[in-house]
Amino acid sequence: MNKNYTLKNLFDISYHKVLLTGANGQLGMEICEALLDLGAEVYAIDKTLSNIEKIETKKLKKFKLDITNKGELEGLFTFLKKKNMNLTALINNAAVSFFSPFKKRTDYELDYTYNVNIKAPIKLIQNFLKLKHQLKEHRKIINIASIYGNVSPNFSIYEKKDRRNSEIYGASKAALIQLTKYFSTMSKKEKILVNAIAPGGIFNIKSPQSKSFIKKYSSLCPLKRLANTREMIGIIIYLLSESSSYTNGQTIMIDGGYSSW
Ligand SMILES: NC(=O)c1ccc[n+]([C@@H]2O[C@H](COP(=O)([O-])OP(=O)(O)OC[C@H]3O[C@@H](n4cnc5c(N)ncnc54)[C@H](O)[C@@H]3O)[C@@H](O)[C@H]2O)c1
Repeated sequence: MNKNYTLKNLFDISYHKVLLTGANGQLGMEICEALLDLGAEVYAIDKTLSNIEKIETKKLKKFKLDITNKGELEGLFTFLKKKNMNLTALINNAAVSFFSPFKKRTDYELDYTYNVNIKAPIKLIQNFLKLKHQLKEHRKIINIASIYGNVSPNFSIYEKKDRRNSEIYGASKAALIQLTKYFSTMSKKEKILVNAIAPGGIFNIKSPQSKSFIKKYSSLCPLKRLANTREMIGIIIYLLSESSSYTNGQTIMIDGGYSSW
């Protein structure tokens, strides 16, 4: 850690220029607004910008693109290089999940989950590392994994119409946890710190989970409730700031203790 860091600026993230995928989603929006509130610049990527469109500030740059599209992703990084956008952090937040039963799983669902949840974060990290930067501190990469990259969903809590997490979703999040360890080994050479967070179930305000699912999920969680998106922000500030200067390769479970027993 840089010796100039005092307790007062230990959690400062205002110097960051953060590339954030899935910025238009429920967690992405919360992260985007929090980073802007704390003075950081956000380069927000999503294939739809309907929510994020409403935020107007010079500190927010919006890019409508599909992270599985090679041409669109290369176009973004060519633009960032040309404009000398010295990005200092990457948050791999975009992900997809399919909720149909395993016996009906299609090749499209398998391939698309792999492409969004595994291949795109690898391509983003590859391109991010090629960007120039003048930061004295380490650049930061944060991968948004899931408890289901660590434990299996407990199928007794789902009713027929509930959104069951798929095997390929869990496998993709387990891959992201492994990739976090893999890329963390490059910390010295690339001047990066790579960590992940693994959220537990988050209450969805716009499209709430069923009452029965919430009740059964809550009964299995020591805190007896789902998370809310704001509860993921503290750990992200920690991981972006210099307070995490010796945290590397970790996946931090933010699950109210769900995976403790
Ligand atoms: N919601 C939960 O309960 C929960 C729990 C654990 C982990 N997570 C993880 O948190 C992250 C955010 O989840 P969320 O609940 O906000 O989901 P969300 O569906 O609300 O947001 C995901 C965003 O990613 C975008 N996206 C998907 N595919 C894309 C593509 N190909 N190109 C560009 N953008 C694309 C979507 O348009 C969407 O805006 C995900 O990684 C998810 O796996 C969520």
